[in-house]
Amino acid sequence: AEDGYDLWLRYQPLSGASQSLCDPAVDLSGPVAQGVQLQAQRSATVDIAVAELHRGLASLFRCESQKPTILLARTDQLSGKEAQFSEGLRGQMAGSYRLATMADGRILIAANDDIGLLYGSFGLLRHLQTDSANQKLDQLAIPALPLRLLNHWDNPDRGVERGYSGESIFDWWHLPDHLDPRMIDYARANASIGINGTVVNNVNASPIMLTPRYIAKLQRLADAFRPYGIRVYLSVRFSSPRELGGLDSADPLDPKVAAWWKSKADEIYAAIPDFGGFLVKANSEGQPGPQDYGRTHADGANMLATAIGDRGTVIWRAFVYQSSAETDRVKLAYEEFKPLDGKFADNVILQVKNGPLDFQPREPFHPLFGAMPHTRMMLEVQQTKEYLGFATHLAYLGTMWTEVLDANTGHGKNGHLTVADTIVSGGMAGVSNIGSDRNWSGSHFDQANWYAFGRLAWDTSLSADAIAREWAAQTFSRNPQFLNVTVKMMHDSRQAVVDYMTPLGLAHQMATGHHYGPGPWVNDLERPEWNPAYYNRADKSGIGFDRTKNGSDALGQYAPSVASGWSDPHTMDEDYLLWFQHLPWNFRTQSGRTVWEELVARYDRGVAKTHEMQREWAALAPYVDAQRYQDVADDLKVQAREAQWWRDASVSYFASRCECDLPAGATAPP
Ligand code: GCU
Repeated sequence: AEDGYDLWLRYQPLSGASQSLCDPAVDLSGPVAQGVQLQAQRSATVDIAVAELHRGLASLFRCESQKPTILLARTDQLSGKEAQFSEGLRGQMAGSYRLATMADGRILIAANDDIGLLYGSFGLLRHLQTDSANQKLDQLAIPALPLRLLNHWDNPDRGVERGYSGESIFDWWHLPDHLDPRMIDYARANASIGINGTVVNNVNASPIMLTPRYIAKLQRLADAFRPYGIRVYLSVRFSSPRELGGLDSADPLDPKVAAWWKSKADEIYAAIPDFGGFLVKANSEGQPGPQDYGRTHADGANMLATAIGDRGTVIWRAFVYQSSAETDRVKLAYEEFKPLDGKFADNVILQVKNGPLDFQPREPFHPLFGAMPHTRMMLEVQQTKEYLGFATHLAYLGTMWTEVLDANTGHGKNGHLTVADTIVSGGMAGVSNIGSDRNWSGSHFDQANWYAFGRLAWDTSLSADAIAREWAAQTFSRNPQFLNVTVKMMHDSRQAVVDYMTPLGLAHQMATGHHYGPGPWVNDLERPEWNPAYYNRADKSGIGFDRTKNGSDALGQYAPSVASGWSDPHTMDEDYLLWFQHLPWNFRTQSGRTVWEELVARYDRGVAKTHEMQREWAALAPYVDAQRYQDVADDLKVQAREAQWWRDASVSYFASRCECDLPAGATAPP
């Protein structure tokens, strides 16, 4: 059944001219199996690569031929003329590979290591399905970032924080005795897009994950994932020495505490020699941390870094805030971490969310990027759409992530340093949208966000549209008409959500707790910085959050060139207008409309887009199998209805604050 389980690895038969791989120009001697010749020592990883090529080629080409058309070779095994192909690979990061058509017509997949051979095999299969397979191939693929990690917010009871695709795929109850075969499919899918690590549990971590029983379970997973190049990591609770170790403190400078963590790390490494390390959420949203003992984040991180040593990494999250009405919440991470630049151990990475608030439909990039040149940084994005309509609304996030990766922080030598540049020694982390639903991600199009994350973490310079295109070609259909329309839908989809939920730079307008649906009027929560009204600041005089010098001066945390770009409401990028400015309702925007009129126009534009997406998808029915077509059509219908709900509720509320009439031509909310 076409239920989405196969993800982008469906390998639908190619038609037309690309049968060439069935008909090799030459016959070769040597260890040959079904079209793949091996010039590498066998290993679990190499065997998986060969099996994947067999599976892919057999399905794509329906080959009868058993002749070798592909040479899978470790660079240290290449000699003579073929040695030239290892050149670009010398000294490159683990997993790098080269694809090339050789003089005799065979295709070479070359890599320095086994995982590169596996990535190269997936790379070739992707290439065959997305580009013209008859082109002469010469492609060097080198990962942009060392760490490309999923972050699962999964609890040991299989509940998933902010998960919308069923329960956790990690079946802790039956582990370690039973390994769900789906774990292999999971590893394979991740390897196919270059993901090389997974943090298996929620950042709001249960200490149970560090008990011997759970370490044994984790070991079973690690053994299963290892051949796919995936290392396991754990989120840890900073107070575990108290909860598990019976100590009366978790003070990072207490030698007993440090010794407890060291022996815990040793215990884990004895079971899992390539254990990736710890991810820590500390002193944020009620989680324990070093500040409970008057210590800094660096004290906490460095103590754990010593326990781990050169065996792995401590990833420390910068998502911190405490309740404080006086301080603008978006400033807190910078205030706490900027002074610690250069104080973290070499094996500590600071993991920073894309924006300074919390995974909103749109935020400016986080001011910490580029501001801590002596600290390794990792970009955290959210695949699961906590604030973008869960798995129901179609929102392709490739456009959001390229927006942040490409953003110029204004730091660096010539004032040109993109966010992507600031994470080259760290990596990217994606809060996973994977669950036990048959289609993994809760909806077919949400698979694209998993896919796009992996592809961007591998190559931060890829365009969101190019990724959408290759994903759609592998997932649905290679028909050019289908692809053109689908890529356009995907391209526009996230902006549509921005428009009908939080236009013009508004943020955090979602209903309380679950974050689904509108709540801009909410103003009575116990913590002020949780209130939507705290963020929109709408009253008779105007709307928006003044973050200029006259207000919270969050703008002052950006490099001067960037800050100046966002300081003048007349000229700035209006996508961030009300994020940085509080403006009177009758302020003229660049369209000539007042803020009030522009706001309503954008809500309307978002709603209109959801109807357009429904029409576009309807026209694609001939290209998509019935089940997946209907699944998507059903979701789009809900999205259109809920976009209208968002628009009507928000417009009504803001009209009441503004005491404004609806702009001419606008429909009155019911
Ligand atoms: C958001 C989210 C929480 C999560 C937190 C985090 O606030 O709503 O569920 O724990 O981010 O990133 O730590």
